[in-house]
Amino acid sequence: MIELRRLSPADGIDVYDMLQEIPREENGFMNNGHGKSFEEYRVWLKTMDEESHRQGIVDGWKVPSTTYWMYVDGIPVGYGKVRHFLTDSLRTAGGNIGYVIRPGWRGQGYGKELLRLLLVKARGIGMDKALVTIRKDNAASLAVARANGGVITGETDERYLVWLDTREDMK
Ligand SMILES: CC(C)(COP(=O)(O)OP(=O)(O)OC[C@H]1O[C@@H](n2cnc3c(N)ncnc32)[C@H](O)[C@@H]1OP(=O)(O)O)[C@@H](O)C(=O)NCCC(=O)NCCS
Repeated sequence: MIELRRLSPADGIDVYDMLQEIPREENGFMNNGHGKSFEEYRVWLKTMDEESHRQGIVDGWKVPSTTYWMYVDGIPVGYGKVRHFLTDSLRTAGGNIGYVIRPGWRGQGYGKELLRLLLVKARGIGMDKALVTIRKDNAASLAVARANGGVITGETDERYLVWLDTREDMK
């Protein structure tokens, strides 16, 4: 069974272990739970949970964002973040949605499924479409976005700007 579970301050060692296994930064995806002690991780969870409930922009750029863990048969195998809206800088780097799969679980279709489920969450937050910004050399992520109906609508020197319809799986 595959499901998304929203980040909670009560999350435990299974999520912690996943976060230590995933690199801190990969292709622009920041895994800020990496490299923390278990106690620091519990404090971080609380901050992340609060971020999800905020309304406006903080520090000039931080927008509300909700994190979801993807569980496969009770094991966390990846996660994603949904930013509730965009700023000008997020429109060229960052976008609405970021995702990552635990290294040992890649290449089995979970990335595609994770993005599909995140788009359902984005729709639930009230978004009709979502932006993913993908480094030009990140073929796996581009394939994940395309498989979910993503269309390249622009580019910067570093990234493709890919928009996805959050209702794609309802067509
Ligand atoms: C991008 C990522 C989430 C993909 O996860 P995944 O579980 O391996 O993806 P899937 O198994 O669903 O594969 C999706 C597609 O990518 C292709 N793919 C997977 N790894 C690939 C690679 N290294 N190079 C090229 N294509 C690759 C698969 O063949 C598949 O394509 P298909 O639909 O044509 O068969 C994963 O590689 C990852 O976590 N990367 C690090 C973080 C990251 O880059 N996040 C995205 C930031 S925009």
